[in-house]
Formats: sequence, structure tokens, C-alpha cells
Amino acid sequence: MSHFSYRNGELYAENTPLTQIAKQFGSPTYVYSKAALAENFSAYANACKENRRDDSTALVCYSVKSNSNLAVLNLLGRLGSGFDIVSGGELLRVIAAGGDPRKVIFSGVGKTHDEMRLALSHGILCFNVESTAELLRLNEVAGEMGKQAPVSLRVNPNVDAKTHPYISTGLKENKFGIAYDEALAAYRTAAALPHIRVVGIDCHIGSQLLDDAPLLEALERVIELVDRLAAEGIVIHHLDIGGGIGISYDDEKPVAIGDYLSRLFAKVDKWRLLNHKGAPIQVMFEPGRSIVGNAGVLLAEVEYLKHGATKNFAIVNAAMNDLMRPAMYEAWHGVQAVVQRAQPAKTYDVVGPVCESGDWLARERALAIEQGDLLAIMSAGAYGMTMSSNYNSRGRAAEVMVDGDRAHLIRQREMPSELFRLESLLP
Ligand code: LLP
Repeated sequence: MSHFSYRNGELYAENTPLTQIAKQFGSPTYVYSKAALAENFSAYANACKENRRDDSTALVCYSVKSNSNLAVLNLLGRLGSGFDIVSGGELLRVIAAGGDPRKVIFSGVGKTHDEMRLALSHGILCFNVESTAELLRLNEVAGEMGKQAPVSLRVNPNVDAKTHPYISTGLKENKFGIAYDEALAAYRTAAALPHIRVVGIDCHIGSQLLDDAPLLEALERVIELVDRLAAEGIVIHHLDIGGGIGISYDDEKPVAIGDYLSRLFAKVDKWRLLNHKGAPIQVMFEPGRSIVGNAGVLLAEVEYLKHGATKNFAIVNAAMNDLMRPAMYEAWHGVQAVVQRAQPAKTYDVVGPVCESGDWLARERALAIEQGDLLAIMSAGAYGMTMSSNYNSRGRAAEVMVDGDRAHLIRQREMPSELFRLESLLP
């Protein structure tokens, strides 16, 4: 069920009209629905329960990079979520939001010494290590701190995720993970290092996957490795399949979370994978987009309508710096007039004020709008705010979370003076 819907010709987030949010907080503003977030997280949590999994046998680690607002992290943490992070900054966010570091897994190809130290000092659940060089560095850092680092190796299963090349990560030619054929050797190295404790195995093959077949294929390849490792006495406690399930931006029909998880757990059960205590192996997920993507919209106002010789432009007060996805991936986002008008629609390109031809949010959309109208750019909850920038010295948008008929400001609009606060003149 969508938590953004029309009532009497006006678009609401839950029980709150978007016009009221614009009046109260201005625009551009990201608006999230608390109920949608909770519902999407529950799709994972309930599917785990239905497949007889508890925390010790299944853990959902929300991918912080998709939307890292503290209120979002806090809400998910309270619902029992762990967190998948890719930087020290994301770890500090999780902690500031009250998240449990013991449920944090640290992914990413370029972890620095400082990030390793920070994560070790907070006792995170696991480092998802992406190369032998990283393994050696982590061993050294943990040794200096008199600790053992819990490690999972990210293997690259060489499976085609059949998604946009920029967000496909599981093929041999991608920079991510350790090549499948080199994984056994890397595990042997890891098992022999004194300050490394091998606890898991992981993979992540890409994002915005509509079908679960490539994920289940990746799972099979990972399970084969787990089996071969066990034969060598390297026993894995958890298997992390990564994130990647897509959402509907237009009319895509992504696999239902419950169906995907049932098929996945059935495979894991068939193999009877056990941890070192003889208990079932713990399965982990790192979903981002499927939890937050359709739980948010970007609210913008039409500054000008420009009727050109060949095209009509709706110039809005949100831009590529607020929502990068169209400029970067030619991504499609729905655009809805917040208040529906009875006049005939015209075809518009919806563009921002930034000085780049790539600054567009949507192309060739039929819209019945006038100057000053509000637009909602749909499905903008994931990789929207987190990928925003200050290009053209534009302060970043405000963020609001709606809970029923209440709207809470969860990030203030950035003011121009804040943009150059860290800069200084020459002496
Ligand atoms: N785990 C790892 C290791 C990842 O790299 C990612 C996303 C995820 C989990 C979460 O994947 P999700 O469930 O959200 O598909 N900026 C792009 C998406 C980049 C995805 C990067 N990795 C976009 O706007 O489409």
C-alpha cells in the first residue's frame, strides 16, 4: 500500500497534505513516511520469522548509504535492524542514532587505518573484507590494539545482476570483492593471521534487481564455497547475501520480499549449513532501496514555466544537486502535481536551476501545472539525500518525517553561511 496518495485532488503523505509541509518547512524538502519505512522493514523481519528464523539465525542490516538520516536509522534500529556501513562517518551516524555497533557490518573496498581503529574500538559485528591487502592491514591494526578482528570475505560470485552497469557489482570485471577462484586461498590466509577471526562470507551483486534469480544463483555459489571451507576446517558462522532488491519507480514489478526470502531460506535449509556450534548458519541481508526508496518523495516548487520552440520546461527549485539519480544514471522518477488541476496537461521537461544541461529531474511528462505549483518527485527516499551535494553553492534540502497527521523536521534546511563555514581566506 502506498503511503503517498491523493485525497480530494491533493497529494498526502499518510494523513498529512504535502501542501501543509511546504507551507511549514518550505521546499525543496524530502518527505518520508514513517509507516512506509516500518512496513518495508517488516517485510524482511516477518519473512525471517515465517521461515523460523530468530536474531541468531537471520539479521537484517539496513544499508546506511541509501538514506542515513539519524531519524531513519533510529527508527530502524528500534525495529531491530542492524546496519551495513561503508565508512567511519556512517558508523558515527549509527551510534549517534542509538544503533547497536554489535549489529554493524562494515563493507567497502577502501577502509582506512583510522576507520578500522574506530570500528574495532566500537566492537562491530564484522568487517566485510574486499581484498588480501585489506586483510593484512586489518590484521596489523587489530594487532596494535591487542584485538582480533571479526572478518567475512566478500566474494565476487561472477553473476550478472542484469541491472544498470553503474550499480552492478558481482561481475569479474567489477572492482568489488575477491575473485571467486581466489577466495579459498584468501580464506586460508585469513585463517592463519593471528589477529583475524574468520566469522562469515558475503557477497553483493548489484542494486535495483527486479528478479531474485541472480541472487539465488550467487547464493548457490557462496554455499559451495562454505562447504569447501568447512572441509578444510574453516567454519563460517554467517552468510551475508547483500542487498539489491529493487523497487517500482514506474511500472516495474520487483519480486516480493517474502517470496525471495522463502526461496533463499529453502536453499540454505536444503544444504543444512551449520555454524561451529552445530546450530544453523546465520543469514544476513543488507537491503537499502527496498526499505527506504518508496518511503520518500522530494517536494519541489515550480519557479517558472518556459515554453520553448520545441520543448516546454518546468523549472523547479530542486536540482541535480538534490537528486542526482536522473543526471547520473538517467534514472526515471515519477512526477506528480501535489494539487491536481482540471486544465489540460502539457508535456514538460522538469529541470533545476543548476548550470548544466544534465540538470534535469524528469523528461517529457504530461503535467497540468502553473507557476508556483508544488510537484512531488516520487520514489526518492533511497540515494536521494545521501547523494546530494552543494554544487552551485546550493544548501541541501530539508528532511521531514511524517507520522500520521504529524510532520517532524528531521533535518533543517542548510543555510548558505554553513556552506563556507569550514573555509578560510589566505593569511
Ligand atoms: N550492500 C552493499 C555492499 C552495497 O554496495 C549496497 C549498495 C547495498 C548493500 C544496498 O543495496 P540496495 O539494497 O540499496 O540495492 N546510487 C545508486 C545505487 C548504488 C548502490 C550501491 N550499493 C542508485 O541511486 O541507484
